[in-house]
Amino acid sequence: MTLEASGLSASARDAVAESLHVVGEAIQQIAAESYASLFGERPDLLHRLFNRGNQATGEQQAALANGLAGFAALLVHRPYIDVRTVLERIAHKHVSVGVTPQQYELIHHHLMAAFRSVLGDAATERLVSGWSEVYWIMGRALVRREAELGAQLGIEAGLHWRSWQVVQRTTEAHGILSLLLEPADEWPPDHFLPGQYVSVAVPVDDDSFQIRQYSLSCAPGARRLRITVELLDRPGRPAGEVSAYLHHTARLGTQLLLSPPCGEVTLDDSDSPLLFVSYGVGITPFVSMTGHLARANSARPVTHVHVDRGALHHAHRFEMEDLLERLPNGRGVLVYDDLQSAPADARRPPVDFSGLSLGPGTLAYLCGPTSFLVRTRAALVQAGLAPGAIRYEVFGPELWSAPS
Ligand SMILES: Cc1cc2nc3c(=O)[nH]c(=O)nc-3n(C[C@H](O)[C@H](O)[C@H](O)COP(=O)(O)OP(=O)(O)OC[C@H]3O[C@@H](n4cnc5c(N)ncnc54)[C@H](O)[C@@H]3O)c2cc1C
Ligand code: HEM
Repeated sequence: MTLEASGLSASARDAVAESLHVVGEAIQQIAAESYASLFGERPDLLHRLFNRGNQATGEQQAALANGLAGFAALLVHRPYIDVRTVLERIAHKHVSVGVTPQQYELIHHHLMAAFRSVLGDAATERLVSGWSEVYWIMGRALVRREAELGAQLGIEAGLHWRSWQVVQRTTEAHGILSLLLEPADEWPPDHFLPGQYVSVAVPVDDDSFQIRQYSLSCAPGARRLRITVELLDRPGRPAGEVSAYLHHTARLGTQLLLSPPCGEVTLDDSDSPLLFVSYGVGITPFVSMTGHLARANSARPVTHVHVDRGALHHAHRFEMEDLLERLPNGRGVLVYDDLQSAPADARRPPVDFSGLSLGPGTLAYLCGPTSFLVRTRAALVQAGLAPGAIRYEVFGPELWSAPS
């Protein structure tokens, strides 16, 4: 389905085109106000569905705002783009946290009210109904795709969260812990694709749950699942709610609520050569992908470039070395930067890909902090990779979209 097929009415297209600039300038404030009024009316959604950390830092508002404004610009300027590729990431995230179709009405109500209150007189009926159309084009496409994914995953109303029990805790590196999980009930084994994540819901105080995503750091095919979690405990900032719970409170026998595996950044199953590039705990999806390739005795050329602060922080190092050794055409490249006191986003040594002689048709997968992804992608394009051959996973709301 293209946007043309599901496009804006002519009058909405004009109203949105004329107001792209003014709405673009105010959209962060509109998103912030709409969340404030939503959570005023429904505090349960803040404490049991949305990520409070992302709300506090403004990242979720920015993600919704960028999503809506960016999508409107696409509708107006590039109506031939396939809706599904644009919305796939959001749909997977929504399914994993349990968004329901009814909640789209609620968000729409608060969003349109915020358009009116933030834009004041500029919010004419024509403008508001044009942007309402944009919202519903996205909303309908998301609801449809989420229903499809939900059906594939066997999610029925009320059966979203499943209990898993912690059966092993392993320290992988400084501040990084793996939890091995076994179904606490007779769930059928979850099928997942290498690269996918689960949402984990944990009780953080008397009345609240918080949900976060963790990539599965194991190959598919076993009854047990494994996640690997970095403790977010940065000076001057509150400790990360869920990572602290998983590190300090979850013991052997603790039950955790997990969503079915979701995520659209999965290993392509062609024969193309593969390049994995990770930073820090961003190694997790590649442990799953490499483990899967090793089990399948794959002859695909696989290069894993891992960047980390230093050996003490490097999780899954020996496991990845073993897995790559099992691949006839596997190799690993390590880049350590020991500037330990630098802020997380400042210590990014440049990776020189030109010396790696990547084969024709190489597909690259990147995972790490946003600034690392942006720099790595630019370096890869410079080294000759086609932009369309570079896929990436961001461990947070997506605030950066690679230009196509
Ligand atoms: C698809 C996907 C896969 C992922 N896979 C992994 C993985 O394999 N391993 C992994 O470790 N992580 C992974 N993540 C990240 C993970 O989901 C969490 O975001 C991470 O664990 C932090 O969650 P938290 O609850 O501990 O921190 P949060 O409570 O969410 O806090 C996050 C940051 O915001 C700051 N903050 C919170 N509140 C405030 C405030 N009021 N003012 C200022 N700052 C504030 C905190 O100090 C912290 O630095 C993944 C994310 C995604 C989206
Ligand atoms: C057209 C409507 C919507 C759009 C465009 C939209 C957009 C987004 C985007 C861009 C993200 C971040 C995805 C990522 O990069 O990880 C997201 C996440 C999320 N959305 Fe939506 N969304 C919509 C509707 C809804 C509705 C109806 C709900 C339910 C109340 C909802 C709840 C959430 C939650 C809980 C998350 C994860 C939050 C987090 O981890 O911070 N969204 N959405």
